[in-house]
Order: sequence, then C-alpha cells, then structure tokens
Amino acid sequence: MKAPIRSTVAALRPQGISDISIYGAQFDGVIPLWYGESDLPTPEIPRRALIESLNKGETFYQAESGRDELRDAIAAYDSGLHGREIKADRITVTASGMTALHVALQTICDSGDNVVLVTPVWPNADGAVAIMGAEPRRVAMDYGDDGLWRLDLDRLFDACDDRTRALFINSPNNPTGWMCSAAEQQAILDFTRQRGIWVIADEVYKRIVYDRATSPSFLDICESEDAVFAVNSFSKSWAMTGWRLGWLTAPPSVFKTLGSIVQLTNSNSPAFVQAGGLAAIQHCEPFVHEFRDYCAVGRDIVCDVLGRVNRIRISPPQAAFYAFFAIEGETDSMALAQRLVREAGVGVAPGISFGDDSEGWLRLCFAQEPELLRTAMDRIAAMLR
Ligand SMILES: Cc1ncc(COP(=O)(O)O)c(C=O)c1O
Repeated sequence: MKAPIRSTVAALRPQGISDISIYGAQFDGVIPLWYGESDLPTPEIPRRALIESLNKGETFYQAESGRDELRDAIAAYDSGLHGREIKADRITVTASGMTALHVALQTICDSGDNVVLVTPVWPNADGAVAIMGAEPRRVAMDYGDDGLWRLDLDRLFDACDDRTRALFINSPNNPTGWMCSAAEQQAILDFTRQRGIWVIADEVYKRIVYDRATSPSFLDICESEDAVFAVNSFSKSWAMTGWRLGWLTAPPSVFKTLGSIVQLTNSNSPAFVQAGGLAAIQHCEPFVHEFRDYCAVGRDIVCDVLGRVNRIRISPPQAAFYAFFAIEGETDSMALAQRLVREAGVGVAPGISFGDDSEGWLRLCFAQEPELLRTAMDRIAAMLR
C-alpha cells in the first residue's frame, strides 16, 4: 500500500521558476535571468564578519529570536528608515524572508482560513499559504494603457470574509515593481483594524526604488500593537541570497509566540550568519545605494532594448529589480520561456508562475552585469521581433 503525503502538499501548484531553470540546465551557455538575485557577490564586510565569527568559535546554538545585538541593530535600522521608534521587542530574526513569511502564517492561519493576496505575486507567497491548508485568494491588479499597475481597493476588501486571516501585500512588488501608495496603505490598515485581519507586508525590496530613497511602508504608519507583520530579508539589498537571513517586525505581544515557532522550525539562525548580517546592516549602507544604481543601469538597458520590439509591452518598473512584460500573441509562457532557452540562450521566468492572469508574460531579473544583460536583451529582441 502506498504511504500517502498530505493532500495540500500533493495539490501545490508547479514551481514554474524552478521548472524552467531545471529545463535550462540541459543547455550550455544560457544566460540565467530567471531567479530573483543579482550576479554581485556579497560585499566584503559581511563576508569578513562571518569568517571572524567562525574563527572565534561561534558555532553553537543561538537564541530562538536572534542575537540581541542583531535585533538591536535591526530595530535601529527600522527606526531610522521609518522615522519612528521601533523597539527590539518587535524584531524576530529568521532564516530568510521566506521563513519569516512561514512564521507569520503559522502564527495566524488554520486549515480552512484564507489569505487574500494581490497578484501578480511572488509564487512562494501563494504556496506558503496553500501549504498551511489555507486558501490563497487572489485579487488581480489592473495594468493600464499608461503602463502602470493599479490596485482596486474595493475588490481587495470585497474578497475578505470571516475566514480571512491576512492581506498579503508585497510592495515593492515582485514581479511588477508596483508600489502600494501611502494612502492605499492607510486605507488597508484602517480596513484591517476594523475587521481584525492581519497585514503581511512583504517589504524585501523597499530599498530598491528608483525615484526616491525608500518605498512607502506599513511601518511608517502602524502602531506597535497593530496587527502587521513586516517581512524583510538580507537577501536583496545586501546581495546575501545564499546566506538565508531575514527578519519579521511584528507586535511585541506576539514576540514570544514567534520565537516558539522559530524554535519549532529551524530553532535559530547560525551565529556566524547573524554576525554577517549585523556587519551588513551596520556598515553597508553605501553598498545598498550602489546596488540600487547598479539595478537602475540594468533596468534602462532592458527597457531600452525590449521597448523597441513591437510585440513587447514593457514599462520601466518603479522599484525592485525585475522587468515584467507581455508578448503579443503568446499564450503559453512556459513554452515561450523554453523556446528562449533553446533558441536565444536566455533564461527567464514564465508569467504563469505569478498568477493565472499573467499567462503570456515573462519576468527577468536585471540586477546583472550590463554587458551580459545587453547580450541577453539583443538575443531576446532578435527572437521576438
Ligand atoms: C517578494 C519576495 N519576498 C520574499 C522573498 C524571500 O527572500 P529570501 O527568502 O531570500 O529572504 C523574495 C525572494 O525572491 C521575494 O521576491
């Protein structure tokens, strides 16, 4: 007799981004733009801090909520960025932004609950809700003729019912680069306060914004006991994707609960990884700015080359490091992504990964070395012309 696996797990949607990268691994010389990471290695300061920590023998179990010095540094960073005091009793260190999302969902979701997500959206958010046995309820944004994404707040609120536990808002957004405005965030916060619903604010791209210092954040407007989880990560702004380090900013009243969930998940993050994170947050602010400028160069190359291809509809994103574009006449984004691998030698993510409404779209990450990116764009343009 076959031993069963959980039905919720068996029913998970296919991981389109992993699938295309596995497909692409069969071919030589593919330029990989499918993942959400840049080609820059982590800056030297955190790398050195990790080595020093290891050499000091910091190889033991750590506090479940994170090292005090890192939580203090994150609290100071969050406070500075958001212009209001955010104390360390709101900070829980997690083994990535992905884990931060899991910890938040495990705190609030039972099987049969639902979480309303604004789409297009990073597929892991959808999957993390589904794996809880909860329903990811999707509300699609509109893409206007002016090339801007818009959120219909009435539709968002209408999607909520008495089993809704959270609104998941990823701003700046992966894949569109959309940013939820301060007024929209205030309306969402007011609604969730009234209805007793959490906001999960995924803000991992908030430092990668092209026309201002930082994106509007729920942490700019919420009080410490508001039901807001802000998900953050060292992965993006500090080029630390492989380190697996992130954090949750949450109300102090759930601090102990979050620690217990971390304890029952990975128990704690390694001391030496946290030492690297501490060095990054304290000493790598210049890198955050340089990295944003690096992304801006990539963004201009992509939009310039692809913008001249008649079949492609693209507009420069306001934030994050992705180009998300539609190709006229294409209805199967996975088949198209596979053709791009085979015929153009470029790896991009199929739009279908980001929601059913994104079929016929593609996403690529432009946080890459300019010359390589130019070569990749010329190849895509030649194939899709
Ligand atoms: C919107 C969004 N949130 C969270 C994450 C999680 O990042 P990590 O798990 O590397 O910290 C990602 C990674 O791609 C993302 O795109």
